[in-house]
Amino acid sequence: MSNNIKKALIIGLGLIGGSLAKGLRKNGSFGEVIGFDRDPDELEKGLLTGVIDVAAESLAQAVSEADLVVLAVPVKAMEKVLVDIAPFIAEDTFLTDVGSTKGNVVEAAQRVFTALPSGFVPGHPIAGSEKSGVEAADENLFLNHKVILTPLAESSSGAVKLFTEMWSALGAEVLVMNVEKHDEVLAATSHLPHMLAFSLVDTLAQEQDNNTDIFRYAAGGFRDFTRIAGSDPTMWHDICLANKEALLAQLDRFVAGLGNLRAAIECGDSETMLGTFTRARVAREHFSRILSGTAYSHDMSNQQVTFRAQPGGSVSGKIRVPGDKSISHRSIMLGSLADGVTEVTGFLEGEDSLATLQAFRDMGVVIEGPVDGNVTIYGVGINGLQAPPGPLYVGNSGTSMRLLSGLLAAQQFDSELTGDASLTKRPMGRVADPLRLMGAEIETAENGRPPLKIKGKRSLTGMHYEMPMASAQVKSCLLLAGLYAEGQTSVTEPAPTRDHTERMLNGFGYSVEQEGATAVVSSGGQLHACRIDVPADISSATFFMVAAAICPDSDLVLEHVGINPTRIGVINILRLMGANLELLNEREVGGEPVADIRIRYAPLKGIHIPEDQVPLAIDEFPALFVAAACAEGTTIVSGAEELRVKESDRIQSMVDGLKTLGVDIEGTPDGAVIKGGPIGGGVVESHDDHRIAMSFCIAALRAKDTIVINECANVATSFPDFVELACAAGLKVEREEG
Ligand code: S3P
Repeated sequence: MSNNIKKALIIGLGLIGGSLAKGLRKNGSFGEVIGFDRDPDELEKGLLTGVIDVAAESLAQAVSEADLVVLAVPVKAMEKVLVDIAPFIAEDTFLTDVGSTKGNVVEAAQRVFTALPSGFVPGHPIAGSEKSGVEAADENLFLNHKVILTPLAESSSGAVKLFTEMWSALGAEVLVMNVEKHDEVLAATSHLPHMLAFSLVDTLAQEQDNNTDIFRYAAGGFRDFTRIAGSDPTMWHDICLANKEALLAQLDRFVAGLGNLRAAIECGDSETMLGTFTRARVAREHFSRILSGTAYSHDMSNQQVTFRAQPGGSVSGKIRVPGDKSISHRSIMLGSLADGVTEVTGFLEGEDSLATLQAFRDMGVVIEGPVDGNVTIYGVGINGLQAPPGPLYVGNSGTSMRLLSGLLAAQQFDSELTGDASLTKRPMGRVADPLRLMGAEIETAENGRPPLKIKGKRSLTGMHYEMPMASAQVKSCLLLAGLYAEGQTSVTEPAPTRDHTERMLNGFGYSVEQEGATAVVSSGGQLHACRIDVPADISSATFFMVAAAICPDSDLVLEHVGINPTRIGVINILRLMGANLELLNEREVGGEPVADIRIRYAPLKGIHIPEDQVPLAIDEFPALFVAAACAEGTTIVSGAEELRVKESDRIQSMVDGLKTLGVDIEGTPDGAVIKGGPIGGGVVESHDDHRIAMSFCIAALRAKDTIVINECANVATSFPDFVELACAAGLKVEREEG
């Protein structure tokens, strides 16, 4: 590691300071490790046990000679030590602390320094044990633990980098957040649980008559729950006072929640009791998934997933791809707003639809599942949503954000919608602007980008809206707002777009009239729970349709695929290109047409894709670009400028990737011109876009060499088991992590 640290000084050789010193010494990249402790015995022990290289005799001298200083003293002592060392801290000294609260440390530093040094980056390693003192020092204490750095406006990027390297060198995972956020998060996740453990054990211990029995018979759960009551009382006393405001806010929330539960038990209110327990159980499952790294609705952009697709092969057999994403989102939304219990089967367990599911749980709806695609939604009625405890995070999902914005604009509470890095770049003015015309109050970031801050208690008025672009999300958003807006809301689309919202509202007994290109709803109705069978997603099936269409010897059946007329652009386009495609066993399931699709290899030819098919195949273009690259002659895509504002700029992503593979392709503002020809191998970028990633896997079937596709974690948004199913069908794809 190329830092210029010659001397690292650790002030305070307790468990954290001692472990850090020992770890740095073992690592060897942070110079000589000097220790200082107020207690000379501890210092001596530190030297004897090899925790430090040198024991500092004078704090002043040690600080002035050190390049890196770590304050590992109790939070209460922080200010006093800062006073002692401040005169000797140079502008380029790297300074951090390990306190479990941050606001008070920063305030102390502000009082002590006239100007905060740029080398100062407060930190908090989330590690510890019930042991204390230098003898308990453990160089592996931070291994696989989180360390939070809370850089200040004054902190230099070099200092943040150095401390990130320091903790990473000890095996920790470094997270960065601001000071307020840190204190709030820690109050909820650490300080409050400690208060509960201390208070519970103390309360039970005071029951003079039978406390021995209580503790003797206490089962494993009690022991686990109260383990943290064995922590150091003085330290916790100091932490409570140091993070008083945030902790009190969390305690108040908890006391109110416990009060509600008490009242429910007292009057036998089963709905509240079961609601509380079910929500808690599913939230726990959600946290466990986050902790095991397989969570839904968390930012996956940090997860490095690469697909390696080997050239050649063909596809055959019978497969069923996962449930339709658009229908899955809507089943949760409408099921939540209905009266009664909605049972969903075939639900897509992908990150996007799970983000919608979590958002409704956050608004108080009890939802069980998903288990094998089955979800049970205990509807709260059209006016039953409750204020969520914080911003609703919808990950990568544009559908969640746009449809929810319509619903939320009409609620009695304020709300905020946030998403991941990709979603944060996507245009939301297309929903915010018309909603404002209906009376909504919505604040966006610059250029109409997320987050969306939506004010509650606004009364909306119905209106007629001519959509400037063909967008099912905008149409659905306004129809959902129309459920609450006074009078009638009507939306006219410039070209047909998917009509799942209209169909499903009718299925829930809420009438939506269709007058030509205009959909009309009136407020004042109710939704009645029903059963929803979600068909397989034609957008996910597309990858396999194209796979079979481009590979000699392929013969594949895709089962139970939704063939809603507003979604079958891909079938029409592939047929125009010469594909051999049959619809078998056509039927209607829960208001949506469904069929098995059989597709066999037949040579494709280039065409000018009719523009009226574009909105009907809008999500299928990345795969269609691959079909075009394998067709004889030239394919022209036009009228598809919407592709530029999807999860990535899909025109650019496909043009760049296909060019890398040697395909003759040029982008245009609203499409591309693609000449069929040989496909080579290479490394392509998916730009965190699930459909781009899967399309390049399919391209490998006709490639001459391996295709490596970067940034594939987001495939889990729409198609969690893509690699497994692709391999079952005959592709040779491997998923690599890290
Ligand atoms: C969707 C509509 C389409 C589509 C998206 C899902 C929906 O977006 O691309 O994947 O579920 O309503 P636009 O409405 O932006 O075209």
